[in-house]
Amino acid sequence: MTQDELKALVAQAAADYVKQEVPQGAVLGVGTGSTANLFIDAIAAFKERFSGAVSSSEASTRRLQQHGIQVLDLNEVDEIPVYVDGADEIDASGAMIKGGGGALTREKIVAAVAGRFVCIADGSKLVDTLGAFPLPVEVIPMARAAVARKLAALGGQPRLRMTKEGGIYKTDNGNVILDVSALRISQPKDIEQQINQIPGVVTVGLFALRGADVLLLGTEQGVQRTDY
Ligand code: A5P
Repeated sequence: MTQDELKALVAQAAADYVKQEVPQGAVLGVGTGSTANLFIDAIAAFKERFSGAVSSSEASTRRLQQHGIQVLDLNEVDEIPVYVDGADEIDASGAMIKGGGGALTREKIVAAVAGRFVCIADGSKLVDTLGAFPLPVEVIPMARAAVARKLAALGGQPRLRMTKEGGIYKTDNGNVILDVSALRISQPKDIEQQINQIPGVVTVGLFALRGADVLLLGTEQGVQRTDY
């Protein structure tokens, strides 16, 4: 199977999970990225069963609305039983690197509110140690150089994210992203806390303090479910 086929498989498995395990009329938390896009397409088939979605990015908001799914402001929502999103890497403890698509801050906010985080990923995302994928860090623009120095002192190699057109990439929140390579993240909770404390950092794309509760992993043998 191709990577896209594996993504479609787990997106459908997550839609089935929602149908079976989320009470009718609930609000869903919806992530960002190519796997999350397929999940949005899959839940459109039964959109009348939930009352709307809280979205983690402008891109997902557009896709949800194109399907006629109501997008709700998080400030108007008390409870999100389940948040479904992809990951760039996930380890055996359910800790993840996220933010390859730049939506890490809103993803972390919605994940923090949600009762359960269901991660959907093709098999290539499961790793022994996080860090081969450069760790995204969203930063207030004026702090870019100062934060980059601190990240270098931690042993990382930060690089300012650029657009395909060669401009500086800006998040939905108007900030910049440093993609940090050369970090071998064996203690993800510690690193998450350390980077969180650097002044100017908005969000680090490590989701370890609040990791996944369920992983639906797409493999050649089908979808493997892990509950953490
Ligand atoms: C978006 O900011 C990311 O956190 C995505 O969830 C992550 O990059 C996975 O994306 P794909 O599903 O496209 O691999």
